[in-house]
Amino acid sequence: MKAIVYHQYGSPDVLKLEEVHKPTPADNQLLIKVYAASINRSDWEGLTGKPLYARIGGLIKPNNKILGSDIAGTVEAVGKDVKQFKPGDEVFGLMLNYGGGFAEYACKSEKALALKPAGMTFEEAAAIPQAAFIALQGIREKGQVQPGQKVLINGAGGGAGTFAIQLAKLAGAEVTGVDNAEKLELMQSLGADHVIDYTKEDFTKNGQQYDLILDVIANRSVFAYKRALKPNGSYFMAGGSVATIFQMLLLGPWIRRTSGKKIRLLLVQTDSKDLIYITELIEAGKVVPVIDKRYSLSETAEALRYLGEGHAKGKVVITVQ
Ligand SMILES: NC(=O)c1ccc[n+]([C@@H]2O[C@H](COP(=O)([O-])OP(=O)(O)OC[C@H]3O[C@@H](n4cnc5c(N)ncnc54)[C@H](OP(=O)(O)O)[C@@H]3O)[C@@H](O)[C@H]2O)c1
Repeated sequence: MKAIVYHQYGSPDVLKLEEVHKPTPADNQLLIKVYAASINRSDWEGLTGKPLYARIGGLIKPNNKILGSDIAGTVEAVGKDVKQFKPGDEVFGLMLNYGGGFAEYACKSEKALALKPAGMTFEEAAAIPQAAFIALQGIREKGQVQPGQKVLINGAGGGAGTFAIQLAKLAGAEVTGVDNAEKLELMQSLGADHVIDYTKEDFTKNGQQYDLILDVIANRSVFAYKRALKPNGSYFMAGGSVATIFQMLLLGPWIRRTSGKKIRLLLVQTDSKDLIYITELIEAGKVVPVIDKRYSLSETAEALRYLGEGHAKGKVVITVQ
């Protein structure tokens, strides 16, 4: 089968379209013929090997040679222990080791997999998994946003952020979206009440305070986040720098004891029920997956470059076949 393969960390230039063995499903896995995949920042991080946690599967070279965490396709075969799906089912979901999706076929377990609604395209379905998991858990399950609360989403014009804006508005919050100037209009069109261009204004220094901050791109000190939180406010870091993670682990508990402000990492759980919940919202017209651009499998390097260079508004999708 054809797949986008890389053997070393680097720029999109290290990605090559290669012929590789079609994977064989284990007893608890399904073989999925991939019709569409989507790009996440985690793919960019896995490609470049930055931040350092992106090298967890290989310090010097990537162990997993195929990136791609979000897929949608049809089930071609199932292992003997697979209970919920059968050949022919149209499915979408998250590859649990965040790789293997930029290929014509992928094997994965039933976890973080759901049936694709008939009215949804494979591209739309592939745009959902990782971004929706982060947004649902950051805003709803762990963030527990209440009507009237002030919510700030940092990195709101990207994959997780565009879902997060919509979920926070659905919960009745007053939403501020932070991203670069190219994405301000998009954030407003999704319902953001206020938008901030991060290249011009630092949201931790403008005197505003929030009940909840969901940060997909944390690179400040924990004291900056503390300043931007209301008393009893909550901050969740979904992605960002290793230095910020260490500060959060070391100082988060102390900040909570001394000020009541909660500054924590968001550890995303990957449960199929979240995929079902978000598709129900999409089918009801309450949430839309935002797809900026589509590329073919052979153009995956260009698609990653587009995201890495800061242009992607919402999601970028790879149409595989
Ligand atoms: N915690 C967990 O369990 C978990 C699970 C899965 C993934 N993750 C992580 O969650 C993150 C998800 O990101 P995503 O896929 O939504 O990324 P994305 O689509 O790239 O969105 C991130 C957005 O942030 C913007 N941005 C960049 N620098 C910024 C800054 N300094 N201030 C404000 N915005 C800035 C980006 O704009 P530009 O175009 O200007 O760069 C982009 O629009 C990744 O880091 C991933 O590794 C965490």
